Amino acid sequence: MWKLNDKKALITGGSKGIGKATVIEFLKLGAEVLFTARNEKDIKLLETELKEEGHQVTGLVADSAKPEDIKKIKNWIAERWNSLDILVNNAGINIRKQAIDYSEEEFRKVLEINLVAPFEISRALYPFLKKSGKASIINIASSAAIQDVGTGTPYAMSKSGLLQQSRSLAVEWAEDQIRVNSVSPWFTKTPLTEGYLHNEKKMDSILSRTPLKRVAEAEEISSIISFLAMDKSSFVTGQNIVADGGMSITAL
Ligand SMILES: NC(=O)c1ccc[n+]([C@@H]2O[C@H](COP(=O)([O-])OP(=O)(O)OC[C@H]3O[C@@H](n4cnc5c(N)ncnc54)[C@H](OP(=O)(O)O)[C@@H]3O)[C@@H](O)[C@H]2O)c1
Repeated sequence: MWKLNDKKALITGGSKGIGKATVIEFLKLGAEVLFTARNEKDIKLLETELKEEGHQVTGLVADSAKPEDIKKIKNWIAERWNSLDILVNNAGINIRKQAIDYSEEEFRKVLEINLVAPFEISRALYPFLKKSGKASIINIASSAAIQDVGTGTPYAMSKSGLLQQSRSLAVEWAEDQIRVNSVSPWFTKTPLTEGYLHNEKKMDSILSRTPLKRVAEAEEISSIISFLAMDKSSFVTGQNIVADGGMSITAL
């Protein structure tokens, strides 16, 4: 059961970072994977590499925040699989600013991609998840959902909203055997945080607050996502697994 054999999985934002690590781990565990992102070149590069290794994987250009692209994902699944076992709402962005400096467009964009899109995608794919009879949705939130970690108010708002979205859907869809959980990482080495983590002062500040004295690798997050995707976690729903090197349990 520590496998994903015969499972069909969609991972949004699968071309880089945590999403890419999850695509690779799911394939190694035996799943068939559909992943999305906006940049076609990145998608093709990863898809070709993984297909050459013999994996069953498809990359689809789709912006999670565009209704027509959600329709495209839905049509792809309807035509090829007609059911879905695992949905990982991973695609996310951040624009770091002081609250008063955001334009309305910037602030809405963060909420659209991080909070509204997972809701719209989960709703659009609900009939396929229901058909699975044993489905799992995993929403990627953040430590910023729970504490102020200086990553900007819209990002924090979007991620805390995502935690409650997960809990409410977990209750609403439990009768359909659809589990819904969240994973909340602290700083993780990915293209999203590359610039931030290269700033020595910021890195020192992060490490001083992290008992394990390091940031996470993307694979340390994808392993949690894999556990929640498996039948091994079949009695876990509506939960948030925090992966923060102990950051949230220390006051010094
Ligand atoms: N890294 C961290 O320290 C950290 C900590 C806490 C939480 N998280 C969360 O973990 C998730 C993944 O983060 P990451 O660090 O792996 O980010 P990343 O390295 O920037 O990768 C993000 C992925 O999502 C895709 N993406 C972005 N916007 C999209 C959209 N509108 N539609 C479809 N795909 C989109 C990107 O490809 P394209 O640009 O080509 O679309 C890319 O494949 C995010 O939800 C993030 O908020 C990350």
